[in-house]
Amino acid sequence: MHYELDHPLMKQKMTLLRDKETKFKQFRELAKEITILVAFEAMKDLEVEETRVVTPLVETTGYKIKNDIVIVPVLRAGVGMLDGVLNLAPKARVGFIGMYRDSKTKEAIAYYEKLPEDLKNPYFFVIDPMVATGGSLIATIDLIKKKGHKKISIISILSAPEGIAAVNKAHPDVKIFTGVVDEKLDENKYIVPGLGDAGDRLFGTK
Ligand code: PRP
Ligand code: URA
Repeated sequence: MHYELDHPLMKQKMTLLRDKETKFKQFRELAKEITILVAFEAMKDLEVEETRVVTPLVETTGYKIKNDIVIVPVLRAGVGMLDGVLNLAPKARVGFIGMYRDSKTKEAIAYYEKLPEDLKNPYFFVIDPMVATGGSLIATIDLIKKKGHKKISIISILSAPEGIAAVNKAHPDVKIFTGVVDEKLDENKYIVPGLGDAGDRLFGTK
């Protein structure tokens, strides 16, 4: 299942993000802003329980989130979304999973994993700006599920239909929240029209 944000703010910010003239400082700011918009939507699945709160006038019903929120940026480009998500959920824990796409085979290779332990009713939000073939996210979710966790959603900026289909097939219980779904993948498995290499554009490595 996937949710694409249909919103004028998203449309305008995504246009600026795609622009090849946008340099990494502005790219990072836009990625953060877009992340906040998508994460706000994704977090509506969190569970709440009632509490009491006393306002200056009366006592009334309040709410608190029941889940331990765990944010999992997929290294490296997912780090560019972390600040945005933590703005919404400042008490969240953060686990890291390192994945890179082999430049020839385009297969996801895991190279790092550190997830928090001793969690109570955890809800995992995996953050990665790009869902291209979906391979990196499928492998990331495999790793999280192997630890016994079940409540997992993906927050991304841009997705290809091929990647969404692959993630849905491998993990039908995991929802994908994305800014925009693009047209297709090209022969190098890049998203078209896309925005290029998210990691390089975020961190200025090319
Ligand atoms: C990018 C991106 C995703 C992955 C998407 O990472 O951040 O993790 O590609 O592609 P997929 O859906 O086909 O797996 P990349 O491998 O370029 O590594 P980086 O984040 O270190 O730049
Ligand atoms: N990874 C990226 O950074 N960009 C793409 O278009 C596909 C995978």
